[in-house]
Amino acid sequence: MPARNISIPNQPSNVTNQTITSVSREHRKFRPSAEFQRQANLGSYAAYKRLYAESVNTPNKFWGRQAKELLTWQKPFKKVLDWKLPHAKWFLGGQLNVAANCLDRHLGTARENKAAIIFEGEPGDVRTITYKQLHREVCQFANALTALGLAKGDRAAIYLPMVPEAAVAMLACARLGVIHTVIFGGFSSEAIKDRVNDCQAKLVITADGGWRRGKIIDLKTNVDRALAGTPTVEHVVVLKRTGQPVAFSEGRDRWWHDLVAGVSAEHKAKGHDSEHPLFILYTSGSTGKPKGVLHTSAGYLLGTTITTKYVFDLKETDIYFCTADIGWITGHSYVVYGPLANGATVLMYEGAPNHPEPDRFWDIIDRHGVTIFYTAPTAIRAFMRWGDDYVKKHSLKSLRLLGSVGEPINPEAWMWYHTLIGKKRCPIVDTWWQTETGAIMVTPLPGVTATTPGSCTLPFFGVVPKILDEQGKEVPRGGGGKLFLKNPWPSMLRTLWGDDERYKKQYWSELPGYYFAGDGARFDEDGYLWVVGRIDDVLNVSGHRIGTAEVESALVSHPSVAEAAVVGRPDELKGQALVVFVTLKNGFAASPQHKEELRAHVAKEIGSLARPDDVRFAAALPKTRSGKIMRRILKEIAAGGTVKGDTTTLEDFNVVAALQSQEE
Ligand code: WT7
Repeated sequence: MPARNISIPNQPSNVTNQTITSVSREHRKFRPSAEFQRQANLGSYAAYKRLYAESVNTPNKFWGRQAKELLTWQKPFKKVLDWKLPHAKWFLGGQLNVAANCLDRHLGTARENKAAIIFEGEPGDVRTITYKQLHREVCQFANALTALGLAKGDRAAIYLPMVPEAAVAMLACARLGVIHTVIFGGFSSEAIKDRVNDCQAKLVITADGGWRRGKIIDLKTNVDRALAGTPTVEHVVVLKRTGQPVAFSEGRDRWWHDLVAGVSAEHKAKGHDSEHPLFILYTSGSTGKPKGVLHTSAGYLLGTTITTKYVFDLKETDIYFCTADIGWITGHSYVVYGPLANGATVLMYEGAPNHPEPDRFWDIIDRHGVTIFYTAPTAIRAFMRWGDDYVKKHSLKSLRLLGSVGEPINPEAWMWYHTLIGKKRCPIVDTWWQTETGAIMVTPLPGVTATTPGSCTLPFFGVVPKILDEQGKEVPRGGGGKLFLKNPWPSMLRTLWGDDERYKKQYWSELPGYYFAGDGARFDEDGYLWVVGRIDDVLNVSGHRIGTAEVESALVSHPSVAEAAVVGRPDELKGQALVVFVTLKNGFAASPQHKEELRAHVAKEIGSLARPDDVRFAAALPKTRSGKIMRRILKEIAAGGTVKGDTTTLEDFNVVAALQSQEE
């Protein structure tokens, strides 16, 4: 492996100390093989450049054509975009049905008997559902929902495990114009209550339970507890998944299988306006109550459809496995809507990646012949920690493309993914996007882009990323700043449910006219984008603002470190002192000498500027349920205080308790 090429920060003189100093100097380039390039849906840089130029110079022409080509309309749109900053309306006058785009239009074609979903439950049960069968189930469930009194515009909450019925429920809602809000199955009663009340859901769709690490998650019990405080809910539909006994509230609760028994599988999909709300997805801000991100129909569907086609280079014969839960935007866009609109075969897995053994994903890939695999850096670092032997037991020869999403991927994890999983043969698409963007925004195109470990590289069609300083001036290549997006795009969020003021303030007030992503980032000399962390987490050391990702990446390049999180602690002299929390790989021990070694390692990799003032070893780091490190909590611990802020999105409070008890 080539040596890491990181030098001491050389701050360009025209970069003010308000922007972010970049400390990483990764330059390796990995080009797609000629073989991959030849078969790619987009295989030349010239073609990318031409389409990109068209998409930003004449966006209405570009998106108008894509919308006609990629989507099936029941009524053609009249106007591509109506943009009254910060509110966009796309494809006005048009009507379509999102579910019909994912299902009905594949019927009567060679796809109708193709697998839409290959499902594997954690206990090992496997089910294959063709497009025709999925269509049938969705139609039946849509009829059942109608019979329950659900109508267009109503809200329904979905709290299900990763089972095919989760997709059925989403698509049945979409078919009827019922707005769904999926609540991640790991969330508590409190979280269900808040979300249901915020959107005033009439219906909750849940299951008796789901399997996770050999145990049953008591979904129904959580719903019952939440529903003590949710006056709007009229019915609960309960899917039988695990079969354990559950409490039933007479009149309110209905078994899924009873509800659909004997119900017609004929259902004509009505067209809904392009801007009809499709779903609300709650995403936690760093503080305060969760934000109900609202996505609408046609623009969202177009964004997810076109990115699935080009970023994942989707082919008729692919078996596509995205490991995200449907409770996250990744599950919405790249398990359900994007792949099904493209007629893909989606592999859906219910359970934990390390059950019964830490090689479950590799076993799944080999048994089902998965060709495209999309996961998160936090998962990749866990695979690395579990050890290479689990990977080496499997051939992984069916894989042809890998993806990453959720956080900056540190070059060490990237190289491991490339070598151990991709066998140096599969392009990696490191895709930057957000719940709010709906679809992938910045990404390599696998047949086109030479990738650099850690960089999400180049903007997708229609995306104009800008790195700006506090004055709104463009930061030159090499310098860091805040990441903004300049133009509206079809899959953008339309507002925050019930709180348009917060929408304006949160995303559109940092710099008038620009969408503020909340991330710190920079362009390198090649014009590639590097996200260096959330702006709220940026460290300020002796006047240098440094992104967390870069220091963490240097730490993880030490052979003993599995995972690292860096936070600032108020310091009279430096402004902020650097406190790092690390978890070690199996076989390495925490010791005072080891602390010194890690401090020296960072100083060597980045410069003495970033030498940590304090190194703390931890058994685990506090993470959100989607795997993001909660640096806000570590900051409170580093400052010697107790954790006060909201901890409801925390995956495991014991991790925080353990870190705090170390303090004393
Ligand atoms: C935030 C959005 C998008 C689906 C999953 C997360 C970070 C996401 C990358 C990436 C660097 C990334 C950003 C972003 N992020 N992907 N490829 N490289 N950072 O959705 O929970 O809305 O989080 O995740 O900080 O703003 P989300």
